[in-house]
Amino acid sequence: MSALVRFGVSLEKDLLQKFDLRLREKSYTNRSEAIRDLIREDLVKKEWQGGKEVTGSITLVYDHHKRQLLSYLMDIQHDFSGNIISTQHIHLDHFNCLEIVVVRGRPSDVELLFGKLKSAKGVKHASIAMSTTGKEVK
Ligand code: NI
Repeated sequence: MSALVRFGVSLEKDLLQKFDLRLREKSYTNRSEAIRDLIREDLVKKEWQGGKEVTGSITLVYDHHKRQLLSYLMDIQHDFSGNIISTQHIHLDHFNCLEIVVVRGRPSDVELLFGKLKSAKGVKHASIAMSTTGKEVK
């Protein structure tokens, strides 16, 4: 772990009050941890803009009764087997399935996979949580 450094920050009182309010809403107990997280988020965003390896998870909600869709989603996932670490399938109710696809690889490949899954007809909702391998973020 690298050495801890203290630094001062000047900002408008109103802005600080808004920041502190957000920290309470998010259950932060101090500003330092919140600022660390903001910096980490920015670093992860940069990783996704670059070509380095990233990780993340794709969440899909789709209609279980559309058999062709199931097979189409499987075909896409097989095409990207090198980027998929694991998948979890949850039967939400009689009609709906939720699938979590954990991914890693180059941002462009992961985004291509996400785009293909999201745009498949019958997918009701798709989202991606962009994360990191943790190597560049302390
Ligand atoms: Ni299901």
